[in-house]
Amino acid sequence: MSRFAHVTGWGMAIPEKILTNYDLSEMVDTNHEWIVSRTGIVERRVANDEETTASLAREAALKALEIANLKPRDVDLIIVATSSPEHIFPATACLVQDQIGAVRAGAFDLSAACTGFIYALEIATQLIRSESIANAIVIGAETLSRFVNWKDRETCVLFGDGAGAFVLQASDEPGGVISTVMRSDGSGGELLSLPAGGSKLPASKETVGNGLHYIHMSGREVFRFATKVMSQATLDALAKAHLKIDDVNLIIPHQANLRIINMAAKNLDFPMERVYVNIDHYGNTSTASIPIATCEAIQNGKLKPGDKVVFVGFGAGLTWGASVAEWSKPFPTERRVYPARYRLLARIRSLLLRWVRRIEGWIWGNLR
Ligand code: UT7
Repeated sequence: MSRFAHVTGWGMAIPEKILTNYDLSEMVDTNHEWIVSRTGIVERRVANDEETTASLAREAALKALEIANLKPRDVDLIIVATSSPEHIFPATACLVQDQIGAVRAGAFDLSAACTGFIYALEIATQLIRSESIANAIVIGAETLSRFVNWKDRETCVLFGDGAGAFVLQASDEPGGVISTVMRSDGSGGELLSLPAGGSKLPASKETVGNGLHYIHMSGREVFRFATKVMSQATLDALAKAHLKIDDVNLIIPHQANLRIINMAAKNLDFPMERVYVNIDHYGNTSTASIPIATCEAIQNGKLKPGDKVVFVGFGAGLTWGASVAEWSKPFPTERRVYPARYRLLARIRSLLLRWVRRIEGWIWGNLR
């Protein structure tokens, strides 16, 4: 019997603080009209001092678990796709695992820039389909505001913070994620990068002084690449699913630039009314843009159970990819679960584990 991976829960978390184009025009040499006409962005969200990639990821995950009516302890795997992880290690996914009390889950981060959510969706889907796991949380989470040079008008106007999450669950019923294509071209790596802070250029006075810990981008080149790959990835994923573009109810693209989205729809000869766009409110939230847009599409009645939906994205690497899914709904369950209530339990458990580790260390040290 075949096994399928259905999306049964979804959630998003965005910072409260809004940064408008007008605010930005007081910080750098730019203006509202230029930003709207060249990108479609009107405002974006920016994390406050307490908010981090992990805290936004946690909130999105808890909301997704609540929709799926799934306990954190029943989660087998957490993947956080992110370009702005909390640290190089430990993985942001492990922080989320601890903060939601997913006591039986494996956890890791996935680095494929803005395409990361699509890659993560495919990994979780295939682990479910191969019966290795039954329940997964896939999260896209970012605080790119911490990596943007607020003096560089070519990048600082584009990015925003936020997180979105899907719960994926196994079922014998056909549906869920049907096909995915993942692509890359490392020869374009320098077009969009964060040069320092890794092993090649460890943090030093020089790297900081030269602004190498900020996002560097050749906007025009990335734009050209994006317009080529968005439509092709969509068609490749549909062919793999044995579907045609006319079968698609909704396309949810990575929200990087409204002009890129418009061109992709035009190349596909697909009506813009059936392409979900919310870049005006959030800017480019990288890995989080597709799950955030999905949550809003559901809220606005644009995505319903049974619909065929395409997720398509591109980003640094270079990477790109697309997924086709038959949209599902939460599985029926007997008892209501409120995962947000597990937040406190998870905190107590985490403190206890830290104390036990300290006591064990003390005993170990004294017995040697
Ligand atoms: O997730 C993937 C992330 N990256 C992307 O998706 C980026 C893809 N690229 C883009 O979205 C666009 O290339 C940008 C929005 C970054 C730039 O738009 P563009 O239409 O490609 O502008 P451009 O780079 O060709 O620049 C046109 C002009 C330049 O002035 P000159 O040389 O013609 O005098 C820029 O200096 O616009 C100027 N400019 C700005 N002006 C006002 C660039 N940024 C700004 C700005 N405000 N923020």
